[in-house]
Amino acid sequence: MSEPILQASGLSKTFVLHLREGARLPVVSGASFELHAGECVALGGPSGAGKSSLLKMVYGNYRVDAGAIRVRDGDEQVDVARAAPRRLIRLRAHTMGYVSQFLRVIPRVSALDVVADPLLGDGVAPEEALPRARALLGRLNLPERLWPLPPATFSGGEQQRVNIARGLIAHRPLLLMDEPTASLDAANRQVVVELIGEKKRAGVAILGIFHDSEVREAVCDRVIDVTTFGQAA
Ligand SMILES: Nc1ncnc2c1ncn2[C@@H]1O[C@H](COP(=O)(O)OP(=O)(O)O)[C@@H](O)[C@H]1O
Ligand SMILES: [Mg+2]
Repeated sequence: MSEPILQASGLSKTFVLHLREGARLPVVSGASFELHAGECVALGGPSGAGKSSLLKMVYGNYRVDAGAIRVRDGDEQVDVARAAPRRLIRLRAHTMGYVSQFLRVIPRVSALDVVADPLLGDGVAPEEALPRARALLGRLNLPERLWPLPPATFSGGEQQRVNIARGLIAHRPLLLMDEPTASLDAANRQVVVELIGEKKRAGVAILGIFHDSEVREAVCDRVIDVTTFGQAA
């Protein structure tokens, strides 16, 4: 088998609640797993198990107390747990994408520009980036009248589709997804299933949280049960 795209080993984290007299809340302890190109792996376990926290550790938003998070970046390997901020920014720009649960709305920027932005950031010309953004929003059934509008006033499901389009439009070898279909109807969940399938066929490794069991069964090759990462650190 090829080198993994993501290799997490011995990850441990305890939240320390300073406003609660330093109460300690262990969230994961000794978490180890690997992800290869073209596979989609779900983080499983009940609410509060630590799935979102684990995803944020991989993305570098949460610090880990121990362990390594090695991400393959071309010929290099970057340990997210130790990378300098600039290196992490570069890794996120080209290698590691993140589809958050909620869209972070930017005032006055149209849905179309929000979606095209990652491609423009990659140096793709607007004449190519904008049609690709339109095509993706069209596949996700976002009404065309909404494309020129900023998503701030969109419904939850409309915002989620803009967010998915933004997260999937550019090629990133590693994609992290936190409940990408939570606010979608069945038809649009099916579109997302197809889009994820296309990513996998393009060799993208996906680590995600998929609450909808139908979606999970359709796209995921295996499930990592986060509760097995013993929480009694
Ligand atoms: N920033 C934080 N500070 C303190 N506790 C947190 C923080 N983020 C998450 N937690 C706690 O860690 C546990 C796991 O949360 P989370 O990772 O969101 O679980 P899941 O995504 O599996 O529902 C929860 O008990 C939650 O309250
Ligand atoms: Mg969560």
